[in-house]
Amino acid sequence: MSNVKFRSGETIPLEMHKARIVQKLNLPPADVRLEKMREAGFNTFLLKNRDVFLDMLTDSGTNAMSDKQFAAMMQADESYAGSETYFRLEAVLQEVFGMKYFLPAHQGRACEHIISRILVTPGTTALMNYHFTTTKAHITLMGGAVEEIIIDEGLKVKSELPFKGNMDIDKLKGEIKRLGKENICFVRIEAGTNLVGGQPVSMENIRETSRICRAEGIKLVFDASLLADNLYFIKTREKEFANVDIVEITREIGRLMDVIYFSARKLGSSRGGGILTSDDGMFSRMRELVPLYEGFMTYGGMSTRDMEATAVGLMETMDMDVISQTPIFVAALARELQAKGVPVVTPYGGLGCHIDAREFCEHITQEEYPAGALAAALYIASGVRGMERGTLSEQRNPDGSERLAEMELVRLAIPRRVFTLSQIQFVADRVAWLYENRKLIGGLKFTDEPKLLRFFIGKLDSIGGWPETLMKKFTEDFGDSL
Ligand code: F0G
Repeated sequence: MSNVKFRSGETIPLEMHKARIVQKLNLPPADVRLEKMREAGFNTFLLKNRDVFLDMLTDSGTNAMSDKQFAAMMQADESYAGSETYFRLEAVLQEVFGMKYFLPAHQGRACEHIISRILVTPGTTALMNYHFTTTKAHITLMGGAVEEIIIDEGLKVKSELPFKGNMDIDKLKGEIKRLGKENICFVRIEAGTNLVGGQPVSMENIRETSRICRAEGIKLVFDASLLADNLYFIKTREKEFANVDIVEITREIGRLMDVIYFSARKLGSSRGGGILTSDDGMFSRMRELVPLYEGFMTYGGMSTRDMEATAVGLMETMDMDVISQTPIFVAALARELQAKGVPVVTPYGGLGCHIDAREFCEHITQEEYPAGALAAALYIASGVRGMERGTLSEQRNPDGSERLAEMELVRLAIPRRVFTLSQIQFVADRVAWLYENRKLIGGLKFTDEPKLLRFFIGKLDSIGGWPETLMKKFTEDFGDSL
């Protein structure tokens, strides 16, 4: 993706790729959308994709793949042990991250499971810029605790700070002193901090965190699932790296870490996951768990076709034309929304455009899940599927009370090279309509609430008949138009 200038002086994002395989989309009428949302228990995870127009739930496994990735899939060496595919992927990972060992796993959370099993002991704490849902669940299942030490500005919806995902270095030092280094199982940096709006971490911050962890002898773990966007931001927002190759930036991160893991559903635009380390001791402990939980050491639960696609996808991630696509489209959507008064997270991050549901739906209390309600309302108004990233995505406190999220966001993920600019404009128009009619949106309540990761499969109902009123207003305003 490149930002190019028109003669008028206007700058527009220009795609540096073309579509060669397409998928037909379906936009059901508003009354059907309402019915489908009810059937899905007002949980966008439970919608069927056939009823979704633009799927902005996630970029996980949904980035467009390249012709070269598909070509590579044809040479997959499907053998249980010792497959050539494994060695090809290992070589690419070693080249890109400069680390010695690669352990395959079926996706990002499987890596978190293995890392937590070897590093977390009951009563220890993992310090991190911010948690991700599955990360926290794995650490707490092992009896550990998670503590977030992101800079204060990271939790402000509106800011001008270029690296809002940064670790607060003073808090890091303070917590090491307070807890004692022997009680810290590891420190974790999450690239492209997911739950606070896809906000990046600077290299300066990564270096400083690594320096402290090395001096204290604390293991440093890097979640590289959202590294592609973060690399783009390091290159475009951190002066020192303006002329540094993406692969060189990635290798520097590799040099600073004890463990790196990733979801290949995101990084590498494929499916699968992996753990990297140069530490002999940790490697041999993790190596025992891979065949037990994932699959033999040379496939780790992945299909070899996906491993081939990951190897090529990773090399393609080293290309600014490829990794700039999501951040540039996120900015295009967020800018249009801001122009219409819609509150969005700033600065614009990676992964997707994040709407501030707390301000959008200020009449809905956090206990009635404003971000969940907004995601449901948006589907009714547009067929666009976003994802709640707020209180619903939290787990209740041990005493059963709600843990209110620090941010109430609706994420409109922009998978790489999937949507067109006119589709982005459609989303902006429908969100703006919803904003004008925001008072029609009401709250939600659980009817079926699982204990663990409830946002994935829990079902809810609307508090009152607001979805019907919203659908009627939509039909009045748009007539026959979908
Ligand atoms: N870490 C981060 C930062 C993630 O964003 C994800 C997944 C994972 C770990 C887990 O990886 O899905 O392969 O098991 N995020 C997806 C999302 C689910 O939609 O944001 P996984």
